[in-house]
Amino acid sequence: MSETRPSRPLIVPSVLPADFARLGDEVRDLCEAGVDRIQWDVMDGVFVPNLTFGPDVIAAARPHSSVGFEAHLMVVNPDELLGRYVEAGCELVIVHAEACTHLHRTLGRIRDLGARSGVSLNPHTPADVVAHVLSETDLILAMTVNPGFGGQAYIPSVEPKVAQLRRMIDDSGLSIELEVDGGITDSTIQGAAAAGADVFISGSWMYAYPDGKAAAVEKLRTIAAENSPREGAA
Ligand code: DX5
Repeated sequence: MSETRPSRPLIVPSVLPADFARLGDEVRDLCEAGVDRIQWDVMDGVFVPNLTFGPDVIAAARPHSSVGFEAHLMVVNPDELLGRYVEAGCELVIVHAEACTHLHRTLGRIRDLGARSGVSLNPHTPADVVAHVLSETDLILAMTVNPGFGGQAYIPSVEPKVAQLRRMIDDSGLSIELEVDGGITDSTIQGAAAAGADVFISGSWMYAYPDGKAAAVEKLRTIAAENSPREGAA
């Protein structure tokens, strides 16, 4: 097993489907369910046609969590917001390559602020966009839906790009997590894991799972591990 990959598949919920009137309780529930991190989908109503969490909302939820927070910034000007979300308690900040004129510098600034850096690619954006910033990033997110809303259908044509990113990361020898986000369920996770993803964002499927979130987390983690093409996988 490559020592540059997480030791097991990571399951990270999006809180988009949560009851926003009870975010502290919702965060505690997710931690009790055994999630590895929690993702906050930050939307500015311009980069995507939806509006969600400001840094103060995330800061209010932070004391209720025993796991790390990641901010997925679906915003047109992430450079102006990086510090606010790090201060709010996000240990990982993900920006969209499509929103960054100087992506190499933006990723470096995230690290300078003391957080881990991530770059997200919309379904249409080719993997080569990140070829020259691998040294600056700790995570690459391949969107498997067009961002903006939960509950959308998984786009399987992104899987070849996931596989290409997997090869790029492995060839680099760098410790970079490969994350997918959008339409992840107990069936779609198989293809994403087989393509080489390490980290799986789930929102609507996890929240709707009839046996509860802990069972949903375990099911996704098991299926991802069974389908992950890791040499020497446990
Ligand atoms: C899209 C969001 C969603 C969310 C996951 O902008 O990023 O992908 O996190 O939503 P589901 O799991 O419901 O597709």
